[in-house]
Amino acid sequence: MSGSSTSCRSPLLLILLLYPLAGESQHTAAAGGECDTLLAVKKDWGSPTQLAYWDPATAANHCTWKGVRCAGGGIVTELSFPGLNLTRPVPASVCALKNLTRLDLSYNTLTGAFPAAALYACAQLRFLDLSNNHLSGPLPADIDRLSPAMEHLNLSTNLFIGEVPPTIARLTALKSLLLDTNRFSGAYPAAGISELVRLEMLALANNPFAPAPVPPEFGKLTKLNYLWMSGMNLNGEIPEAFSSLTELKVLRMSSNKLTGKIPAWVLQHGKLEYLYLFGNGLSGELPRNVSAVNLIELDLSMNHLTGEIPEAFRDLKKLTLMFLYQNQLTGSIPAWVFQHEKLEYLCLDENGFTGNLPRDITATNLILLNLSRNQLTGEIPQGFGNLKNLKRLFLQNNRFTGTLC
Ligand SMILES: *[C@@H]1O[C@H](CO)[C@@H](O)[C@H](O)[C@H]1NC(C)=O
Ligand SMILES: *[C@@H]1O[C@H](CO)[C@@H](O)[C@H](O)[C@H]1NC(C)=O
Ligand SMILES: *[C@@H]1O[C@H](CO)[C@@H](O)[C@H](O)[C@H]1NC(C)=O
Ligand SMILES: *[C@@H]1O[C@H](CO)[C@@H](O)[C@H](O)[C@H]1NC(C)=O
Ligand SMILES: *[C@@H]1O[C@H](CO)[C@@H](O)[C@H](O)[C@H]1NC(C)=O
Repeated sequence: MSGSSTSCRSPLLLILLLYPLAGESQHTAAAGGECDTLLAVKKDWGSPTQLAYWDPATAANHCTWKGVRCAGGGIVTELSFPGLNLTRPVPASVCALKNLTRLDLSYNTLTGAFPAAALYACAQLRFLDLSNNHLSGPLPADIDRLSPAMEHLNLSTNLFIGEVPPTIARLTALKSLLLDTNRFSGAYPAAGISELVRLEMLALANNPFAPAPVPPEFGKLTKLNYLWMSGMNLNGEIPEAFSSLTELKVLRMSSNKLTGKIPAWVLQHGKLEYLYLFGNGLSGELPRNVSAVNLIELDLSMNHLTGEIPEAFRDLKKLTLMFLYQNQLTGSIPAWVFQHEKLEYLCLDENGFTGNLPRDITATNLILLNLSRNQLTGEIPQGFGNLKNLKRLFLQNNRFTGTLC
């Protein structure tokens, strides 16, 4: 046994361990074991300087080491070190921490393949965040050998390739599955994922999947509050079946090739706060029956939408951002738009809006206002001068008369 900085047990403790009479000494034994395991993990990881503070000479209680969390008795349950520039593969010794439930290695520079062999032994792992690293290669076909307790799997923003293995759908405890911003291709296992009925967060966005329609069976995932399916080659219409997703707070399906109308239910989901459908081929008029009054951001820009801004949009009083630019919307811009207290970003440029702007402009929180490339007429309202927060104002390519003071 070498010096205290490499060992967790004092000689006195060893004597106690020979006579494990009281429960207290057993706890201490467990703690000593966990401490030794952490030191083994550190060593197997190449003793990176970032883990230098894992040292019993500095702090005897390993539960106080940065990034380590324990349950009672010194049992390690969480390792959390995001953003430490860790590069080497996750060592298998990590799973010698038998009660590890949470492992967060996000925002490091981990390279190599998904650390399957190392992590399959973590029998109680419930939260695994490997997002924002440089992991590459395909996911293993037996990824269902991860702990059956797995609830949160975040593999977002890596360099994974190949098909998403269908076995991922056997992790039936999953509440969040984030696979976005990788290089997954082919078809994803939509039918399997649609059986993960506990899912609250699902992100498949920003992967070069084969072009395919939106899977209507995702309508079974009625607990979803976050659905991110942008930039993944979706085509066809937004399924009517999604009207069952009434818990949605965030719906992002931008930058695809979606066609057809914006379904009425989209603006009737009372919990919806963020709706992004920009950069598709959506057409027809905007829904007129609007009860999604909790919307904070609405971005329907870069589509082929026609008709007027519905009067009912007036009820969207929490909107801070409304982007409808690059569509074929017509009619006059409703006066309420310029009296909307919370609105900060308003872009209606490149449409066919006509008529005069209202004199009464009280939307004093506006930071960005873009009305350019329409057919607006009349005087530029003096009221623009009162918009104290306005940083960028675009009015060019209209038919305004007069000047702006
Ligand atoms: C990670 O690396 C970057 C760039 O080399 C450096 O600026 C940063 O301080 C490093 N962070 C840590 C926690 O070592
Ligand atoms: C650690 O896990 C075991 C089962 O593997 C369990 O019996 C024990 O209660 C857990 N200990 C703590 C502190 O969570
Ligand atoms: C990864 O996803 C989990 C949910 O599964 C979330 O709690 C965590 O914040 C995400 N990580 C990052 C870096 O955003
Ligand atoms: C608006 O939608 C609600 C909920 O779907 C429905 O009950 C109501 O009849 C609709 N109103 C109109 C005018 O279509
Ligand atoms: C404003 O609208 C014009 C015309 O569509 C566009 O070229 C410009 O990028 C827009 N600027 C901002 C900040 O939205």
